Amino acid sequence: FDTKTPQYNTSDPTSFAYVSARDRWPVIITQGIDDVHRATWATKDEEAAKEGKWIVSELAKLKYELQHNRELTPLPDDGAADIAGYNKELEALGNPKWHSVPWLYSECYLYRRISSIFQQTQKWKTYDLFSRQKMSTFKSSRPAVIELAARYKDIVTELESKHTIKGAKTQEELEEAEKIVFIEMMEICLWGNATDLSLLTNLSYEDIQKLQGSKARKESENNIIVNDLDKAFEVLTAAQHSGMKQRRVDIVLDNAGFELFVDLILAGYLLAAGLATTVVLHPKSIPWFVSDVLPQDFADLISALADPQRFYTTLSNDDKHSGKKAIPLSDVEISDLKFLFEHWSRFHAEGQMVLRPNRFWTEGGSYWRLPKTAPGLHEDLKESELVVFKGDLNYRKLTADAAWPVTSPFTEAIGPLGPGSGVRVLALRTCKADVVVGLPEGEDERIRATEGGGGDSGGRKWAWSGKWAVVQFSDGKA
Ligand code: F6P
Ligand code: MG
Repeated sequence: FDTKTPQYNTSDPTSFAYVSARDRWPVIITQGIDDVHRATWATKDEEAAKEGKWIVSELAKLKYELQHNRELTPLPDDGAADIAGYNKELEALGNPKWHSVPWLYSECYLYRRISSIFQQTQKWKTYDLFSRQKMSTFKSSRPAVIELAARYKDIVTELESKHTIKGAKTQEELEEAEKIVFIEMMEICLWGNATDLSLLTNLSYEDIQKLQGSKARKESENNIIVNDLDKAFEVLTAAQHSGMKQRRVDIVLDNAGFELFVDLILAGYLLAAGLATTVVLHPKSIPWFVSDVLPQDFADLISALADPQRFYTTLSNDDKHSGKKAIPLSDVEISDLKFLFEHWSRFHAEGQMVLRPNRFWTEGGSYWRLPKTAPGLHEDLKESELVVFKGDLNYRKLTADAAWPVTSPFTEAIGPLGPGSGVRVLALRTCKADVVVGLPEGEDERIRATEGGGGDSGGRKWAWSGKWAVVQFSDGKA
């Protein structure tokens, strides 16, 4: 149940895998060390301080092994069931070295290894070494958050009080308007992914803010090179018109902070418009690819919105040192943000917005394995009208991170989750890795020839930066 197509490997100098293993991962580990170091320094608990120092030394060891191209060592048994699978695979790969190992497995191993270090302590088991970064980046996306909160309130209020969208008078006009807003919400949700923290090693906050505004979104529409949103909308409206009582949409989440915020905007819209009656959100269970959502991130986001003024005017020590001033929110801004809080809390309390973690999402293999290794989860996803997979890593896992010809159909590249799987897949992905499928003939060549596209370097460099995106659909129920 794995693909026969070879996977991207950290030994290939034309692949982003190569750069990742050599340049990006050491930086990510260093940032983690820095965080734990600070937390250790701040704690008054002696046992925690002692363990904190041990964690720092284990992280430093990991960084050393990575940079000196040592073998990946078997993971210590930290009590969780996935360790055996990770170690079995390591053996099957022939105890590979960091600079010559399948990219997908080794990057998952990296985060699983980090988690196992924390699991071996008493005081740090639930500590998230990336949490500080996630929250502070969310704070810096304030202009886009405020803009979207106002837009959301407008749309949802109209839908719930007048059962319409501004300007739509007839049923046809309403449906047309719903489709336009659906596409807008989905695109917001798509581009929200351009800003994950594992790539932040080369994006500034100003770059992020530029990526998030509505003007940027319009300009970016041309950068969505395959766009199947129409098909997804058809599926949801067909279910709505069929009179089915329960209509579920799932979102396999990617990053916390701004991206989670826009995922919730989408979820809230689907519920308010009646395009879904329940939205199931799938977070991760361990700190993952720096910025991925943990259940705690969901709670943190909701509590930030519960008292937005406090959230935005409380400065971190770093902010104070850099001379930042807190700019208070206006009354309108506070009320717009609180509206979101109330709306989402209500959906959550009434069970229409559910969080459902599963350890499958943080295993080392691709989603080709889902039907075999997580049959319960597979059955669960079949209950959904549409499963939205957010982001780059989910796309790599759907396509097994394999070097497919770029024109291979998406439905083929996702293997067992394709036709006949019973699962409707919609991938919303900004491209941050080599694998891309489902492109029309000639498209890859066209973009390679643009500035920074990779030219004749042999690498598909255009697909590394999050500038281009694909939205691809597979109807596993057809
Ligand atoms: O390609 C860079 C990278 O950090 C990959 O390691 C990973 O697949 C991805 O980006 C993470 O991005 P996302 O949060 O969109 O999954
Ligand atoms: Mg991510």
